Amino acid sequence: MFDDPQSPSWTPLLEAAWKARANAHAAYSHFQVGAALLTASGDIVAGCNVENAAYPVTLCAERGALSAAVAAGLRPGGLVAAVVVTDVDLLTPPCGACRQALAEFAERLPVLLANRHGRELHRLEDLLPHSFTGRNFT
Ligand code: THU
Repeated sequence: MFDDPQSPSWTPLLEAAWKARANAHAAYSHFQVGAALLTASGDIVAGCNVENAAYPVTLCAERGALSAAVAAGLRPGGLVAAVVVTDVDLLTPPCGACRQALAEFAERLPVLLANRHGRELHRLEDLLPHSFTGRNFT
């Protein structure tokens, strides 16, 4: 399943991520990113980056997708898999802020990075070891 980067289980997530990427608003970087998340309830929720003339206001594809998934009912522990797609040769891993945001919902989340040529599978805990969690202060 989601421990094999070539598994057909990734296909609907990849399709959703590519579709969202086509809608990215990347007027400044011209770097379009698409993301898709699978939740335990079987929902696939996509996102794209949304840039802004005030650069720091920019929203990454992953956190856009995460926000939509939470609005649709996602709760901590309920994230099953994530995909990030871009159209450049170097695969694009989620930025640090997105890693932290995703970790709130699944610390061992399988994260598939893909472009037109290939894919690479990572676990979120390898991308962000020792993440800060609610357990740190409760
Ligand atoms: N970006 C994402 O959407 N996700 C990432 O994981 C890395 C960066 C976006 C933000 C910005 O719109 C553009 O890529 C360049 O940084």
